[in-house]
Amino acid sequence: MNVSSFGKKIAVQSGIGQLMDDLGVAASQAQDVLMLGGGNPAHIPEVDRCLRQGMTALLADSSRFERAVGSYDPPEGSAEFIDALVALLRGRVGWDIGRQNVALTSGSQLAFFILFNLFAGDYENGTRKKILFPLIPEYIGYCDVGLTGDFFTARKPKIEFLDDHMFKYHIDFERLGIGDDIGAICVSRPTNPTGNVVTNAELERLSGLARARGIPLIVDNAYGMPFPDIVFTEAGPRWDENTIVCMSLSKLGLPGVRTGIIVACPEVVAMVARVNAVMSLAPGGLGPALLTDLVRSGRIIDLAREVIQPFYHNKMQEVVGQIHNCFEGIDYRLHRPEGAFFVWLWFPNLPITSQQLYERLKQRHVLVVPGHYFFPGLTEPWSHANECLRVNYAQDRQVVSAGVRIIAEEVKRAYDAA
Ligand SMILES: Cc1ncc(COP(=O)(O)O)c(C=O)c1O
Repeated sequence: MNVSSFGKKIAVQSGIGQLMDDLGVAASQAQDVLMLGGGNPAHIPEVDRCLRQGMTALLADSSRFERAVGSYDPPEGSAEFIDALVALLRGRVGWDIGRQNVALTSGSQLAFFILFNLFAGDYENGTRKKILFPLIPEYIGYCDVGLTGDFFTARKPKIEFLDDHMFKYHIDFERLGIGDDIGAICVSRPTNPTGNVVTNAELERLSGLARARGIPLIVDNAYGMPFPDIVFTEAGPRWDENTIVCMSLSKLGLPGVRTGIIVACPEVVAMVARVNAVMSLAPGGLGPALLTDLVRSGRIIDLAREVIQPFYHNKMQEVVGQIHNCFEGIDYRLHRPEGAFFVWLWFPNLPITSQQLYERLKQRHVLVVPGHYFFPGLTEPWSHANECLRVNYAQDRQVVSAGVRIIAEEVKRAYDAA
C-alpha cells in the first residue's frame, strides 16, 4: 500500500516491534517458549496481592471505580494521583515540585515519543537538532520514535574491566562534544539493556553540561528510585528544573495499565499535556486510580524497597551464578548488574552476529534480544554491537536457568565451529 513518509518511517518493522511480536508469540505458546526477551516484569506475589487489594478497594468504594473508568481525566492526568505523587516526591525524596511539575502519559514509551520530538527535529530557524545518548548501549524503544531522519547521535562508552568476567560502561566525557545540533540529552538510569547505573557524579556532570548548553537532560527512570527501585548500587534520585525525569508504573508490575509519569518544569509539563490532548485526549485513569492510595500512604516506596528490590536482587545473583557455571571455558563478559532486570552478555570476537545468535536461539525456543538493536544514533561501525545479547531474568527460575543453559550451548557451538 502506498503510504506517507510518516507511514514509511513509523509503520515499518522495528526492533521494538519485533520484540513486542516475540512477546505476543511467547504468550500464545506459553509452554514451549523460554521468554528471556521483552521487558515484562515478574509477577511478584506480594505485589500482585497489593494490586488486587487496591482494585478491590476501588470497586468497594461507591464512586471511585466509576470515576476512574467512566470519565476522561484532564490532559495532564488524574489530579488526585498527581497530588499524591507530588506530596510523596516532596516529602520522601525531597524534590521541590508542585502539581504544575507533573504530567502523566499513556505509558512512558509515549513520553519519549513526545519529548524527543519536542526537542529534536526541525526548528523554525531552519536548524535541525538531535537527541544525544551520551552512553550507548541504550533502550531499544528509543530507536524508532523520531519523526524526522538523522534524529539521534550517540557516544561510545569507556569500558572498565572488572574481576569475575565483569565490566562496566562509563560516560566518556572527553568525547562527549555537545554541539549546537543537540536538542536534549537522554540516559536511562538504570540502563536498559545493560543494568548499568550511571553514577551520581556522572549524572551531576551531565546535568551541569546540559544546563550550560541550555538544553534539557532527560532521565529515564523506568526502573529507578523511588519506585520500582530496582537498583542494587548507591545512586540517588535527582531532579531539577532543567531535568526531565520519566517514570512508569510498568516495572513495578503494571505494564497493562499503560501509565507513564513526567516530572519537569511547568513549561514542558504544559506542552506534554497539550500533546496528550491531541494524541489521546487524556492518559488512562485506571492505573493512577489503582495506585493513588499506595502513593498517598507512601507504601509504594516501602513495597519497592522491601519487596521489589530484594526480589530482583536475588534473581540477579542467581542468574549471575548460573552464567558463571554455564559459560565456563568461554571468553564471556557480563556487564556489572547494578539495576533493572537484565543481564548484558558480551562475547568478544563472537564468530557469528548477535542477530544470527538470536535466530539460532529462537530455533531452540529461547527468546532474547540481540545486542545490535541497542545502539540508537551510532553511525560508525562497532563490532561490539554484534557481540552482545540482552537477557531478561525476571521470569521463573526454571525458565531462566533452562534458557541460560541453551544460550551457553549455542555460544560454545559458535566459537567451536570457527
Ligand atoms: C528504559 C525503559 N524506558 C521506557 C520503557 C517504556 O515503558 P512503559 O511504556 O511501559 O512505561 C521501558 C520498557 O521496557 C524501558 O525499559
